[in-house]
Amino acid sequence: GRLRHYKFNVVTKNANRLCSSKPIVTVNGRFPGPTLYAREGDNVLVKVVNHVKYNVSIHWHGIRQLRTGWADGPAYITQCPIQPGQHFVYNFTITGQRGTLLWHAHILWLRATVHGAIVILPKLGVPYPFPKPHMEQVVILGEWWKSDTEAVINQALKSGLAPNISDAHTINGHPGRIHGCQTQGGFHLSVEKGKSYMLRIINAALNEELFFKIAGHQLTVVEVDAVYVKPFKTSTIVIAPGQTTNVIITADKNSGKYMMIASPFMDSPIAVDNKTATATIHYTGTPSSSPTTLATPPPQNATAVANSFIDSLRSLNSKKYPAKVPLKIDHSLYFTVGLGINPCPTCKAGNGSRVVAGVNNVTFVMPTTALLQAHYFKTKGVFTTDFPSNPPTVFNYTGSTPPANMATSNGTKLYRVKYNSTIQLVLQDTSIIAAENHPIHLHGFNFFAVGKGIGNYNSKKDQKKFNLVDPVERNTIGVPSGGWVAIRFRADNPGVWFLHCHLEVHTTWGLKMAFLVENGKGPNQSLLPPPKDLPKC
Ligand code: C2O
Repeated sequence: GRLRHYKFNVVTKNANRLCSSKPIVTVNGRFPGPTLYAREGDNVLVKVVNHVKYNVSIHWHGIRQLRTGWADGPAYITQCPIQPGQHFVYNFTITGQRGTLLWHAHILWLRATVHGAIVILPKLGVPYPFPKPHMEQVVILGEWWKSDTEAVINQALKSGLAPNISDAHTINGHPGRIHGCQTQGGFHLSVEKGKSYMLRIINAALNEELFFKIAGHQLTVVEVDAVYVKPFKTSTIVIAPGQTTNVIITADKNSGKYMMIASPFMDSPIAVDNKTATATIHYTGTPSSSPTTLATPPPQNATAVANSFIDSLRSLNSKKYPAKVPLKIDHSLYFTVGLGINPCPTCKAGNGSRVVAGVNNVTFVMPTTALLQAHYFKTKGVFTTDFPSNPPTVFNYTGSTPPANMATSNGTKLYRVKYNSTIQLVLQDTSIIAAENHPIHLHGFNFFAVGKGIGNYNSKKDQKKFNLVDPVERNTIGVPSGGWVAIRFRADNPGVWFLHCHLEVHTTWGLKMAFLVENGKGPNQSLLPPPKDLPKC
């Protein structure tokens, strides 16, 4: 591979959306931020310079970071943040991966505007396992608040209640025409009749899963989370924050303009909004006066539409790209994910209590130094390794009667495993406050989604139905509202690896934990030493 140098200046910039302007934190003054291009095998060096008033860190979401956990990016997990005026060089090699991923700030709510695409091309001379499209286009879906996003979350934490939902969704940074106050218009993709286009779709929204579709055009899905899938056609995709999906469209019309939309998918009655973002596909030669063919968003609670897409995803599992599903399991884990309520004497709006979230009833407490450093330098008292392998109490997790005690316990608990051990993790949604879909992201690994169901997981019955042949392989997965998913992975990457809900509000409330993977005994099986410029807390 070759060496790729990037410079990310984190700077404040004024941005005008929804007829009003506000300062936002950006990389290089751009929203969405610059695309990071590389090839499989390349060594990437990104110098991040912090010019803003906030502490900053950048996560390369989905990059495996084999033995280079120092470059993973989540603040206080693998590194101390880059303080104002400071800089840090993220140095990593892209091993065994090609496709679309994303980078984003991994501290506070800065990811709202500090994000961008990672495009990893196959090694030189290695073709895609599908016909090469004529052109490729990054399509980043996001969310926009009229107010400052740090103020939104700080206000929520103070009150103990949920934060305000966003004011719009965006496609490549723009809400689109239905919001009426576009100064420079929404995003347009010009296409030519008969040609094919690969859209590298990324959900960079903070708190919302999204449907995506294009009027009059079928989408052929070829890859998710930088792993090839068995191609299939669909009119609508569903994509959770942190996920990526590559689709190919064929410009099979003679001319015209066709609307592209991103609209919320929320299979719970919690927040109701219908802020569809729009963009346009524009056939070259179409007069600008001609009308746009509209796309209709699925209803917000169209669970069947979402499931039909999710259930169609299969690993390509070809000779060249085999699905290496672990068959023998060393750790069989069962984690509940969901919300809870803890006392908060100062939370007046919340009547003395606050909404929290947890995994196996533990609300993760962020340390004040980075876990990976504490692990590497054997610093005592930063974390414990007693994360429970099962929920502390057994109750009907998805029932309509919540348990009498809805409080969680607090802790900075890790789950410790040996190098190369295999893990099966069943993620069980709870309905303690409300059943809600949780897109769970695991750092440092891809995993196989071997099973999924509604209600409470039943190991005897459900395990028999697992797909151990060609399950989809990815890094972020939606735990269905009122249901469960089972994932499997091999712990072949030593370090400390974050697992959390990629709805930022839930992460903030504590829906997170981390795995500690020990060094192996063989060569190239241990965490590399920390880089010299690793930030200090
Ligand atoms: Cu994309 Cu830990 O995040």
